[in-house]
Amino acid sequence: MIRENLELYQYEYPFYDRVNSKIQTYIKSLDYNSAPHRTLGQSKIRWMKNSQLNIVSREVGIVVNWITEIVNRDCCRLNLGDGSRIKLKCSEIWGVDYDKGSHLGAHSHGGYAYTFSYGVSVPKRSSTLIFPTSGRRVKQKEGHLVVFDSRLKHRVPCNKDEGRCILVGNFIYDHQSVD
Ligand SMILES: [Fe+2]
Repeated sequence: MIRENLELYQYEYPFYDRVNSKIQTYIKSLDYNSAPHRTLGQSKIRWMKNSQLNIVSREVGIVVNWITEIVNRDCCRLNLGDGSRIKLKCSEIWGVDYDKGSHLGAHSHGGYAYTFSYGVSVPKRSSTLIFPTSGRRVKQKEGHLVVFDSRLKHRVPCNKDEGRCILVGNFIYDHQSVD
C-alpha cells in the first residue's frame, strides 16, 4: 500500500483545565444531530454552529481562536504570487460524544482544507485516533490538538470507556482575507 504523507500537526493547549469542563457542559447541552458527512459508526454527534459560525460558548470561542492562529501559522497557505497568502478560517465545528462501544468508521473531510480534533474529555481507556492510510496513530489527551489535511483518512475504533468528548472542526480558505 502506498502511504499518504499528508500534513498532520499536534499541539497542547496550555490552559485546557480552565476551559474543557465548560466546553464539555456546553457540548452536552446541545441536541444530537446527524453529521453533515455521515459515516459508519455509533458516535453521537452534536452540531453547534450556524453558517456564520456564531459561537455561543465563550470557552469554545477561546479554543477555536487559538486553533485558528496555529492553523494560519503552520499549515500550508495558498500563495497569490505577490507574496500575500490566503488565510484559513474555521467554517464549522461540532462535538462528538463517545460512550463505551462508540466508534467511527474510516472517512475523510473532502472539500475542506484542514480538519482539527481537540480533546475535551479523554478518560483513561479512550480510543486512539487512527490514520489507516498513513500508518499513524494518535493517543489524544485532554487539551491535545491534532490538525491534519482534510483529505487524510481517519477512524476511531471502539471506545472502551465512558465520557470521551471531542471538539472537531473544519477549516477552509477564506479568499476575502489575505496577509
Ligand atoms: Fe472525521
